Amino acid sequence: MYLTVIGTGYVGLVSGTCFAEMGNTVTCVDIDTDKIGNLKKGIIPIYEPGLEQMVKRNVDNKTLHFSTDLASSLKKTNIAFIAVGTPMGEDGAADLQYVLQVASDIGDHMQQKLVIVDKSTVPVGTADKVKAKIKERLDLRKVDIPFEIVSNPEFLKEGDAINDFMKPDRVVIGVESQEAEEQMKSLYAPFFRTQNRMISMDVRSAEMTKYVANAMLATKISFMNEIANICELVGADVNKVRVGIGSDSRIGYSFIYPGSGYGGSCFPKDVKALKRTAQQHGYTPRLIDAVEKVNNDQKFVIANKVIQHFGEDLSNKTFAIWGLAFKPETDDMREAPAIYIIKELVKRGAKIQAYDPKAMHEAKTFYLKDLIDVTYFDSKYEVLKNTDALLLLTEWKEFRSPDFEELKIQLKNPVIFDGRNQYSSLNLSDKGFTYYQIGKR
Ligand code: UDX
Repeated sequence: MYLTVIGTGYVGLVSGTCFAEMGNTVTCVDIDTDKIGNLKKGIIPIYEPGLEQMVKRNVDNKTLHFSTDLASSLKKTNIAFIAVGTPMGEDGAADLQYVLQVASDIGDHMQQKLVIVDKSTVPVGTADKVKAKIKERLDLRKVDIPFEIVSNPEFLKEGDAINDFMKPDRVVIGVESQEAEEQMKSLYAPFFRTQNRMISMDVRSAEMTKYVANAMLATKISFMNEIANICELVGADVNKVRVGIGSDSRIGYSFIYPGSGYGGSCFPKDVKALKRTAQQHGYTPRLIDAVEKVNNDQKFVIANKVIQHFGEDLSNKTFAIWGLAFKPETDDMREAPAIYIIKELVKRGAKIQAYDPKAMHEAKTFYLKDLIDVTYFDSKYEVLKNTDALLLLTEWKEFRSPDFEELKIQLKNPVIFDGRNQYSSLNLSDKGFTYYQIGKR
């Protein structure tokens, strides 16, 4: 099939590349000329394991193209994907300006029958708005070209996105006609080798599914973080409680790890947007609201432990940070707990020495760029020199099993604040450390 994917952000680039890998001819279109220029040279704007090689392979095979010219790309296209950003608007609702601009451009340039797929995360009812916008532009051109809007939300996890796309747990599509359904089914059939996991439904339910999936996962995390806080107070160990409840197959082990709160581009934005959608329809969500509040507070739990240990005034104290990204295997720092924790400590006079395997560029150039009290180091041991304590904030593999003797040599005090409970089973107090974690006194 001939596909156009509009928007070369995280979702568009991964989706376009994986469709090309399956033998489709894909053009990824973006209005950002620098980005497209770089992609043509094989320079990828994000870090995602396996993506760079896959882009290169498909560019060489001529199955993947990059362009700023939507009109020419649409000429041969059977299916066009809208994969532009839907950032959080001022009122918490998703901002649809980019999606609707693309809809308008499609209406201005489409020449033949087209299926238009919403891949961006968009609130319920957006497909109708996209449809109305395209119709409006076609009417202006005084042409009547048949088209259909399909909702096809993405469920990619950063750091594992290629795997998620190539071997999906499920592909959800919201369709109106059987013809569009068949077309989407044949596009995705090669991705299901053993079992067909296509789930078809109406458009509004598909739009809703994406938000509900993320809100459900965020709820599991906030629930466990709240339980962790209670465990500390009552003298229980949340790590044991987690295993105890996870063994019930109705609950399951995944997404019940307590920590410093969820971050990233999806959960915070989607929980807020779902709340906003409910409010716009006259419903006051209580549980979703609580999920968000618990998460906002959870980001400060580790900072509060530091303050309890060292006192309110942290001037003359320097802390080593292991991990800045919101989770491992990504350079993404959007809504990362590290931002909040570091700012809180700096506000109280502390100096910060930070190391992250991939996210330091993001931190230096954007998220922490105004903080002169943060310095960056190239290795996990170097960053410890002359610091008063270590804070582990992202559970990168390289932090899982460090040389604790080396830690003791480098740190001024053998104190570890573990925001991801990576060392909870290691009995660090026997090794001479003062060890703080989430959900255990
Ligand atoms: C998420 C969804 O998983 C994905 O399906 C959707 O398309 C986009 O949003 P992502 O944001 O990449 O993906 O990250 P994910 O791996 O789901 O983790 C989200 C956050 O939850 C991270 O901050 C992570 O540290 C936190 N988390 C996850 C926990 O605190 N505890 C857990 O048990 C699991």
